[in-house]
Amino acid sequence: MAAPRILLIIGGGIAAYKAIELVRLLRKSSMVVRCVITRAGEQFVTPLTLAALSENKVYTSLFDLKDEVEMGHIQLSREADLVVVAPATADLLARMAAGIADDLATTLLLATDKPVLAVPAMNVRMWLHAATRRNVATLRGDGVTVMEPDEGEMACGEYGPGRLPEPEAIKAAIEAALSSPLPLAGGVGGGPVASLVLPLDDSRFSTDTPSPSPSRKREGHIDGQPDFAPANHRPLFGRRILVTAGPTHEPIDPVRYIANRSSGKQGFAIAAAAAEAGAEVLLVAGPVPLSTPPGVTRVDVETAREMAAEVEASLPVDAAIMVAAVADWRAADTAPQKIKKDGSGAVPPLALAENPDILAGLAKSAQRPPLLIGFAAETNDVIAHAEAKLARKGCDWIVANDVSADPMGGETNRVHIVSKAGVDSWDRLPKQAVARKLMEKIADELESRLPLERD
Ligand code: C5P
Repeated sequence: MAAPRILLIIGGGIAAYKAIELVRLLRKSSMVVRCVITRAGEQFVTPLTLAALSENKVYTSLFDLKDEVEMGHIQLSREADLVVVAPATADLLARMAAGIADDLATTLLLATDKPVLAVPAMNVRMWLHAATRRNVATLRGDGVTVMEPDEGEMACGEYGPGRLPEPEAIKAAIEAALSSPLPLAGGVGGGPVASLVLPLDDSRFSTDTPSPSPSRKREGHIDGQPDFAPANHRPLFGRRILVTAGPTHEPIDPVRYIANRSSGKQGFAIAAAAAEAGAEVLLVAGPVPLSTPPGVTRVDVETAREMAAEVEASLPVDAAIMVAAVADWRAADTAPQKIKKDGSGAVPPLALAENPDILAGLAKSAQRPPLLIGFAAETNDVIAHAEAKLARKGCDWIVANDVSADPMGGETNRVHIVSKAGVDSWDRLPKQAVARKLMEKIADELESRLPLERD
């Protein structure tokens, strides 16, 4: 197989320095890398460094006529298997979403017919700003893959989501995009643009959504057009999907709680992928500092009992994906005031009570979703434990998650989908890729269990 060709567009942000390491990693994996750097990007890294590491010419200006003779900008934009924008600043994302082509980078992004992966990096407030949320939703709607930024302390001293993911994680996302079954390019590739085929219908997000029914029609279909244009792959359009994610916190007193190390990343990636695939998504999230993926309706909860109540309130749904790491036990009694040390060395008694099993309860409920999926984090005998859990919980699939090598909070996951039909084992993939692959499988399963009537 020919070496994958990456066109790497480097925007102007402090995180641009990580692009240097990314180029090194991609070259180490024998990918061909051609770099384009914006004028602002040049303030942070030099074209010379990028040229030396990529062993390729670096492009900076639209008006470099010599480059037009050697290679036109249209050719440059298409002579790649994947276009990667890293770091994608708020400004660059906004210009991409608006279709502005006022420099070499944005002109290439508008001219390309190849999949685009954008890796955002910006201040937390900028990432959470309504304008950026809107731009990211637009880009995802156009078929651009926008990675979730990392959260943590930022160069500016603030804390939250907005950090450029580590180069290893970007590389994993690039590899996933190169092998992705999903078409990634937006409004390109010869297919009709998204808005012509499936106009966004806000009523899908209204609260009085019709109950899941085999006779429900797909909305937005236009006669004579294919149901899904290649650039607008929405296999879950018309479906209502519930996702639980994150840990739960069980209070001991007003300042202490029982918790676990769940980061919520896999659940949020699943909610994001379900929305990308066109579903109406309800996300019941435990306490995690992650931003809500575009198109997802989120309810925040603290405790298992609150989560159980919100899950019940969200029914009926076509599929429920229970990714949350729900605390098995809570404090039997919550102290109304902070428990104090009395200096005697005596420890306070901590009696525990069992929490409701939300997944098992849902399996037995009158409104059991037609497709009910549980998760299981295991360190050993992964499949045997998952098979036992499948029977115990009464769900349809268990996504067994091997956490022996990469504990909770990592960027990748190796999963086995265990069902009565057998075991489907996947390679280790970035959590975003696991989520997208899972959506394909869910869409197929729902189509066979609960076909939607098409025009
Ligand atoms: O029993 P265990 O916690 O290993 O099961 C994991 C699966 O069950 C996950 O899908 C999790 O979301 C779900 N679960 C639940 N309510 C609980 C415990 C687990 O929904 N109280």
